[in-house]
Amino acid sequence: MSDTTQPGQAGQAPEFDSRDPAAPAFWDERFERGFTPWDQAGVLPAFEAFAAAHPAANVLIPGCGNAWEARWLAERGRTVRAIDFAPSAVAHARAALGDYANVVEQADFYTYTPPFTPAWIFERAFLCALPKVQRADYARRMAELLAPGALLAGYFFIGETPKGPPFGIARDELDALLTPHFTLIDDQPVEGSLPVFQGRERWLTWRRKS
Ligand SMILES: C[S@@+](CC[C@H](N)C(=O)[O-])C[C@H]1O[C@@H](n2cnc3c(N)ncnc32)[C@H](O)[C@@H]1O
Repeated sequence: MSDTTQPGQAGQAPEFDSRDPAAPAFWDERFERGFTPWDQAGVLPAFEAFAAAHPAANVLIPGCGNAWEARWLAERGRTVRAIDFAPSAVAHARAALGDYANVVEQADFYTYTPPFTPAWIFERAFLCALPKVQRADYARRMAELLAPGALLAGYFFIGETPKGPPFGIARDELDALLTPHFTLIDDQPVEGSLPVFQGRERWLTWRRKS
């Protein structure tokens, strides 16, 4: 996330050594120092509703951070894998998951192969964490991981930002990025966004094309 103070975040952000969000060290440093303005510390109603509506879906969560959604799913007996390439994110998530710690793995989204075919990849604050040059690779990898009919669904941070992370994406750019591989089947406003995302999150559901 941006190292300038975000709306709703008290005080000045700390100074960090790492400035490259493409590197695990960038995120490691922020997790280690407790600077995580993106962390929801729980799950939002849109996630719960979608999960309830897709009870049989195996779920992959890339860039999981503290993995609140993985915990929610694992506690309900769902098949889920959550990955993050930052060791301290994984350590924090595993500690919080307790008996379910093994659903979290340290891995890079671009090279990870899940142990199941995901029916749903959950997006939250992952695309907007990636440098813009990675956007085409994000779309390509999502398309590789999902079989026809499977879903990419979650919270997308809409609207171009001058800097980041979070790197907001213009709606027409997001549509152009994903429509070669996916059909948009749901688009909803979001309640309960954190200040850093307030008013600019949409719950989008994309179905992988044949
Ligand atoms: C802004 S945080 C969001 C974490 C979580 N999704 C949430 O909503 O709280 C972005 C996360 O993506 C992870 N990440 C960034 N690039 C990644 C990659 N190529 N593979 C795996 N994780 C990555 C970072 O380490 C960081 O934990």
